[in-house]
Amino acid sequence: MSRQEIRSSVRSTSRSLASPRVINIHDLRHLAQRRLPKVVFDYLDGGAESEVTLRENCRVFDDVTFRPRQAVAIPECDLRTRVLSADLAFPAILAPIGYSRLMHPDGEVAAAAAAEEAGLAYTLSTISGHKLENVRAASKGPVWYQLYLVGGREVAEGAIDRARRVGFSALVVTIDTPVAGMRERDPRNGMKELLGGTLFSKLPFLPQMFAHPGWLASFLLDGGVPKLENIVIPGKGPMSLIDVTAALSHAVVTWEDIRWLKGIWTGPIVVKGVLTGDDARRALDEGAAAIIVSNHGGRQLDGAPAALRVLPEVIAAVNGQAEVLMDGGVRRGSDIVKAICIGARAVLLGRAYAFGLAAAGKPGVTRALEILRDDVERTLRLLGCPSVSALNSSYLNIPKHW
Ligand SMILES: Cc1cc2nc3c(=O)[nH]c(=O)nc-3n(C[C@H](O)[C@H](O)[C@H](O)COP(=O)(O)O)c2cc1C
Repeated sequence: MSRQEIRSSVRSTSRSLASPRVINIHDLRHLAQRRLPKVVFDYLDGGAESEVTLRENCRVFDDVTFRPRQAVAIPECDLRTRVLSADLAFPAILAPIGYSRLMHPDGEVAAAAAAEEAGLAYTLSTISGHKLENVRAASKGPVWYQLYLVGGREVAEGAIDRARRVGFSALVVTIDTPVAGMRERDPRNGMKELLGGTLFSKLPFLPQMFAHPGWLASFLLDGGVPKLENIVIPGKGPMSLIDVTAALSHAVVTWEDIRWLKGIWTGPIVVKGVLTGDDARRALDEGAAAIIVSNHGGRQLDGAPAALRVLPEVIAAVNGQAEVLMDGGVRRGSDIVKAICIGARAVLLGRAYAFGLAAAGKPGVTRALEILRDDVERTLRLLGCPSVSALNSSYLNIPKHW
């Protein structure tokens, strides 16, 4: 491609992501759906079983309404916050999203770079197609490593060692995945066949690939299904994607493992997937520096409560002894503001940025983060609140029974 062609393709990408084509995260979801084959889009969009928890995560934000203070002039609106000693431009962190390189060849590298440019932290999933060293190199901002014990403790030690050497600042340990949830869209669409089946078993699913030539071309140019560069099996090399679901079912993380990790990781440990006050206190007892209230975006235990709904219980149980973060269902800046008012230090963004990544790579993530940042600022001004640090529950009507 000549320079001129590259420039004109960048211009057309930014045009296609600008208003009025993309005004909110829902518009990015729509673009992602157009670019991706159904099997990849549904992997990103879908949840476990009847998807009750997936829907509830988003819906429950509507149960909480605002109590604005009117007629307040705010010359400067301060959106900054600090999480685990890192300054964030607004209270959001990019969540670990497995298989990001299937959504876009630049995957985790693009997301980390966009996070840094937006002044945010990025969390790299264990299930990642780019080497953690390359992800670190893409961002000078804070990057965290999310750990699954896929392949066992020896494999985890290898990744932790690499993460420490290149400067990942926190270890996020996900505790809600003793087995992978039953995401019914995946077997129906042929996810397993895409990841590793024979050509014959892939045949019924090929039409959806050919219907998305842009994605298919970039996928093939990227070398097809990526290896898991950060799950390196001694003597064998990086694990293949097809093996990961089976490996996850032998990778349950227990409190005993967290104790072990405390011994080998000197930085902060963040426990992800807490849904009760009891587990929050247990995580504190094991030395967690922060807790993420999360049901894995409705992808694990269907029927688990919406994350926002249990946030008050966890905030009360933690009682200021650690930082409490939450994720699940955040699609607008006003959702972020509600979670902060209830007591979260920051939220993690999952699909909200991954739709952008799937739609257009790094510019898509950048657009998602810009939309959410602008939303947060507008919401603060409409609330009559000068800063994120001044937000509290007096800005909300929270249902009495919560
Ligand atoms: C496609 C996809 C892959 C994910 N992969 C991981 C993962 O590898 N590790 C993890 O701890 N959480 C993973 N999650 C959960 C997210 O980190 C986060 O908890 C969730 O997406 C938040 O919900 P939201 O998407 O509604 O914002 C994944 C979520 C999605 C949508």
